[in-house]
Amino acid sequence: MTKFLVDKAVNIPEGKLKNITAAGKEIVIANVKGEYYAINNICTHAGAELHEGVLEGKELICPWHGAKWDVQTGDLIWFPQKLKNQQSYNVLIEGDNVFVEI
Ligand code: FES
Repeated sequence: MTKFLVDKAVNIPEGKLKNITAAGKEIVIANVKGEYYAINNICTHAGAELHEGVLEGKELICPWHGAKWDVQTGDLIWFPQKLKNQQSYNVLIEGDNVFVEI
């Protein structure tokens, strides 16, 4: 597993999202009440970029058709049809920096 720098923690405040591309993967990092989580950034429904959606607690709402994803696990919370769950990634905080492990 390789560690990639996402950003300084101060640049991803509570309730906010940040996207990165690392190791060929599109990833969204979410700050939920001071804890950071990372899942795939591409909606498995029709390919929207989830970092353009809305974060409500641990629920990330897709900007295109409203699928709700659990940023803590990558699991689908709600959609009218079954969708493939998102991959989730481990997030590390070291000093002031946020890293994701891929
Ligand atoms: S692209 Fe995300 S719900 Fe359709």
